[in-house]
Amino acid sequence: MLRSGGLVAFPTETVYGLGADARNPDAVARIFVVKGRPQDHPVIVHISGIEYLEQWAREIPALALTLARRFWPGPLTLILKRAHGVADAVTGGQDTVGIRVPSHPVAQALLRAFAGGGAGHRLDAAGHRFDGVAAPSANKFGRISPTTAAHVRSDLGGEVDMILDGGACEVGIESTIVDCSRGQPVLLRPGAITAADIARVAGVALRQADHEAPRSPGALESHYAPGHPLRLVAAERWNETLSQTRCRRAVLSLREQPPGDVSVRWIRMPRDAVRYGHDLYAGLRALDGCDCELILVEAPPVGTQWDGVRDRLSRAEGKMGSE
Ligand code: TXA
Ligand code: MG
Repeated sequence: MLRSGGLVAFPTETVYGLGADARNPDAVARIFVVKGRPQDHPVIVHISGIEYLEQWAREIPALALTLARRFWPGPLTLILKRAHGVADAVTGGQDTVGIRVPSHPVAQALLRAFAGGGAGHRLDAAGHRFDGVAAPSANKFGRISPTTAAHVRSDLGGEVDMILDGGACEVGIESTIVDCSRGQPVLLRPGAITAADIARVAGVALRQADHEAPRSPGALESHYAPGHPLRLVAAERWNETLSQTRCRRAVLSLREQPPGDVSVRWIRMPRDAVRYGHDLYAGLRALDGCDCELILVEAPPVGTQWDGVRDRLSRAEGKMGSE
């Protein structure tokens, strides 16, 4: 289906992706139509292994190779200068490309089968390469990313040609994105692989994204937003806020629901950042689906292991604009 230009949603260890043949600009264009996403936003190319990297990127710095060898397959996306012939449809017209090797066994099996099985790329009769799958998260633009096949079905349903069901995603939030295309590496999106993990392996500190950074819609205000208004509440103001909120509220908290509490729904989240990330989007979807006027979220603790979760929650609140 991918080889004939179709769209296949598939599980990765982070979130479900909406895949298309990255060498087929028409297929990639369909991703944008289905997602309702602006055409100039770049998409990540997924490859089955580092051996395909040079098909997609050029002038790869040693640092990027170090990160790739250490963290691939896994939840890390590298932004690199694009190789010759990489379509504008994939890069949003920029001179860089985002690349990732996912670790989920279904994603791995799909990518390997797509590329023809063995190492190195295969060409079809017309000289077309099958060596990478372009895939943004399989949700409508600006909405919560899907972490189960059922989430994909409810968001995109009949608009995709096939959904591969690989169960609930282990990580649950999108990959860490590091821009290695412009000297000192820049953290464009925090994730399960933390800035500290990367600094340790790279031997240099990451810069935070600034205005020069390439466009990254994941860094737009009000991304990952549920349909209901969401408010992030500092832990020390939690009890006070609960007692002052009169409207029908649904809650995502690290604590147990107190006896007599009137919330429409209360989801207690894990105190461990990894398990919290795993549960986050399913929790937000569940709250969004209930009959409430407001979603109240207790802010998780500070600390580099919580950066990915805190980033997604701030964006869900829609107040944080960094672009
Ligand atoms: O975990 C993930 O990364 C998931 C799974 C499916 O792999 N994918 C994902 O894709 O989150 P998407 O499109 O929803 O988010 C990818 C982010 C976007 O913010 C996009 O702008 C950025 O990566 N990106 C892709 N290529 C880029 C480039 N060349 N330069 C800067 N940002 C880029
Ligand atoms: Mg996305």
